[in-house]
Amino acid sequence: MQSTIIITPELHDEIERLAAMPSQAVTLRALYEVARAGDDDATLRYAQFLHREMPIRLAVKVRQLEQIPDGMANNRSIQTVRNWYVQSFREFQQHPLPTDAATEASFTRMIAAITDRHKNQVAVMARGIRAYMEQTGQHVASDQLQAFLDSFLLSRIGIRVLLGHHVALHQEREGWYGIIGAQTSPREVAEEAAANAGAICRRTYGDPPPVRILGRTNLRFKYIPEHLHLMLFELLKNSFRAVLQNHGKVATKLPPIDIVIAGGAEDVSIKIDDQGGGMCRRTTDKIMRYGFTTAESVEFDDGRLEHDVLAGLGYGLPLCRLYARYFGGDLQIVSLDGYGTDAFLHLSRLGNLHETVL
Ligand SMILES: Nc1ncnc2c1ncn2[C@@H]1O[C@H](COP(=O)(O)OP(=O)(O)O)[C@@H](O)[C@H]1O
Ligand SMILES: [Mg+2]
Repeated sequence: MQSTIIITPELHDEIERLAAMPSQAVTLRALYEVARAGDDDATLRYAQFLHREMPIRLAVKVRQLEQIPDGMANNRSIQTVRNWYVQSFREFQQHPLPTDAATEASFTRMIAAITDRHKNQVAVMARGIRAYMEQTGQHVASDQLQAFLDSFLLSRIGIRVLLGHHVALHQEREGWYGIIGAQTSPREVAEEAAANAGAICRRTYGDPPPVRILGRTNLRFKYIPEHLHLMLFELLKNSFRAVLQNHGKVATKLPPIDIVIAGGAEDVSIKIDDQGGGMCRRTTDKIMRYGFTTAESVEFDDGRLEHDVLAGLGYGLPLCRLYARYFGGDLQIVSLDGYGTDAFLHLSRLGNLHETVL
């Protein structure tokens, strides 16, 4: 259980003061350079950057949660999440500036613990928001709530990238530079995402349709493999479900899902093309709304994540688009009602774009 967090007037003022300070956006290339330097000095400087930057970003999160629209600030789940942020903020503030190997090591341990504290946060928030929406009879997020979640969850991605990178700088892995895979292969990541989504599919619906990977299957680029995996995993879960719902009972052979990998000088684009029956435009208008789902709603608790189920939270597509946008990419869904859906994932391969802030 969590302890109650008392926000004293001093702590409140401190949060307000830091939330008003300018935050420093990073580029994928800058993160890569820190890791490529590969020496203790660079890691220590990065730790010092985090020591300055994190209290600002965490203070912004606390303030955002206090300003959550539709009177949800008093919602229990939202308060739980806010308390986590206050606690993480305080821990950063109380930790001495890392200046040597010992303080840097304890700083890294603190970061790992903080990352762990927040790991189920999206599910906890989604649950609180869904309870609220059920009470008020809303089916999709209001414009204000949608804008809030986009900006809140995008800055969460940024925080987790910065923290995850620091922890990963201490792990020796061939071809990895912190959390960046210097030679990320969309084909390999797609194969892994298809295997993971397939396992969930089998538990829920039955055998998944075959997946074909076409185009530039040997392409490699600098990216965060975890992000690419998350996006392809969400898109494939959706396609699997659509194909099985559309053909499952009648077809002896399911139509394949085609993943096409393309790469130019600037962009890497991946198309996921299914014949799952598509959706009408009235539905496509809503699919980027948090909480919109045509699946049976899932029951989930604090410890259980969306990843256990094929669908039902209605966060897959909007989150996927946020991960794409975070480093300057985007996601588009084009559907042919009665036939199938194409998802176009565009990613910037140059790595010199700053984090997107909403
Ligand atoms: N490939 C697809 N084919 C048909 N419908 C889709 C596809 N992808 C998404 N959808 C529709 O969009 C909705 C929202 O998707 P998502 O945000 O991933 O949430 P969830 O999967 O939890 O329902 C789905 O419930 C479904 O109705
Ligand atoms: Mg989904």
